[in-house]
Amino acid sequence: MQIIKYQQGIMDVIPRSAIYLLFSLNEKKKGHLKETLMSLQKLVDGQEAVLGLGEKVMKEATNSTYEVYTPEGKEEKLSPKGDCDLALWLRDEDEGVLLHKARQYVQVLSAAFEVMDIVRGCTYLARKEEDDFVNHDLSGFVDGTANPKGEERLATAIVQTGDDKLVGSSFWALQKWRHNFNWLDKASQQAKEEIIGRSLTDNHEFEHKAAFSHIERTEQESFDPEAFMWRKSMPWYNDALEGGLMFSCFATSFRAFKVQLNRMCGNEDGIVDGLFRFSKIHYTTFLWCPPFVKGKLDLSSLNLS
Ligand code: HEM
Repeated sequence: MQIIKYQQGIMDVIPRSAIYLLFSLNEKKKGHLKETLMSLQKLVDGQEAVLGLGEKVMKEATNSTYEVYTPEGKEEKLSPKGDCDLALWLRDEDEGVLLHKARQYVQVLSAAFEVMDIVRGCTYLARKEEDDFVNHDLSGFVDGTANPKGEERLATAIVQTGDDKLVGSSFWALQKWRHNFNWLDKASQQAKEEIIGRSLTDNHEFEHKAAFSHIERTEQESFDPEAFMWRKSMPWYNDALEGGLMFSCFATSFRAFKVQLNRMCGNEDGIVDGLFRFSKIHYTTFLWCPPFVKGKLDLSSLNLS
């Protein structure tokens, strides 16, 4: 049996704290791309640091499954594209450790990249339940309930078959949402529950849901073919006490994310997901997470000269 090697942080439980580092390639320093990625390869362990490569870096790739996020129709207004060519999801329980790691990565990557955004991830009301952790979005709802279970987890998140250079890799859609906390503070429990389609008190799914409810819009089985994804999002906040969700999903292609976002934005039937009443997308970006083979990132599908 072939053992699939992937970046383990994609599958692990969500850590207490994280830092997302997003970079864009500096055109003037492009000549340093290869050596910069080689230095990065020595640092990234795939578990405490998950790496995703974006648009300009993927131009150098020989695999053709990656695509640039291109908003269509109503998405153009609701979901602007972020110019991100490389992202790191640094994961640790200790925020001081994260700070020092982030400084080191920024230093190494500055040879070819510029910082596009730095986002501090946290948990909200996280608790252990049986073998799993239950996490909440800052709106108060449990997040991650309908994620695939058992063997379906890996099959959904990590490429298992096909092109050798893709096996062990994952397609990562990353989206920064900012919540309107004033709206959430004032809204009734019923109004919020109607938006999600689940109970704030015990997370049960309502039998009768509004057409705009989030889980009615995104029900994975309702797409043809079905659109399953592995969601590993984290709440974020900054020094101005703004915050929201760093929506993250991993899959064997971007298809599931694309069809779901398309429906959420109302491109199918004109009905926009209720989520937009209390949250707004800052940027959306598509990344490819290389496999992790023999103790290091496998960057062999990149044509680096
Ligand atoms: C502010 C942003 C978002 C928030 C707060 C949010 C929150 C939630 C919550 C509370 C649930 C119900 C519990 C669960 O199954 O996890 C849920 C389900 C889900 N969300 Fe989101 N979500 C957000 C964005 C997105 C986006 C952008 C997508 C995809 C493009 C998405 C896809 C899904 C899917 C697939 C489910 C499960 C649906 C099913 O029951 O099959 N979510 N989300």
